[in-house]
Amino acid sequence: MSEKKHRVSRRQFLNYTLTGVGGFMAAGMLMPMVRFALDPVLRPQAETDLVAVADVADITAEPKRFDYKIDQVDAWYKSEEPKSAWVYKDGDKVVALSPVCKHLGCTVNWNSDPGNPNRFFCPCHYGAYEKDGKNVPGTPPLAPLDVYVSEVKDGKLYLGKAKPRGEA
Ligand code: FES
Repeated sequence: MSEKKHRVSRRQFLNYTLTGVGGFMAAGMLMPMVRFALDPVLRPQAETDLVAVADVADITAEPKRFDYKIDQVDAWYKSEEPKSAWVYKDGDKVVALSPVCKHLGCTVNWNSDPGNPNRFFCPCHYGAYEKDGKNVPGTPPLAPLDVYVSEVKDGKLYLGKAKPRGEA
């Protein structure tokens, strides 16, 4: 039995070479374009962006709701997102709590339910939180209200992201 030799013709060699070189050049041209298109999506968001929310002089020992807006960048789309925080003074310390209920995300209010005086109350499923944000046992929420990363500078309160209690 004779063994048939496999030889590459000049035409095949040119085809393989041009395809390889052409593909390499095309990838070199496309990579910067793909990178440019995806860059806003891949760029990590700044974790430490703080926004001025209130004058410290306006903050009392009684929780008060402050509404504000943050610039939201969603890949190529920029918008303003409304936010709010329950803020009060605990001695010299300023406490800023998220109004988002940890049960199913409704908005909590301060001292709004006669059955839960001096507590945050969620009307959706009767969730309750103590003034410091701790969930009241026996009510639906299973975790305390999130706490905003905060900083007081030049008489103003700056807030960042809301994080689970103990992480802010
Ligand atoms: S969403 Fe607040 S108690 Fe259910």
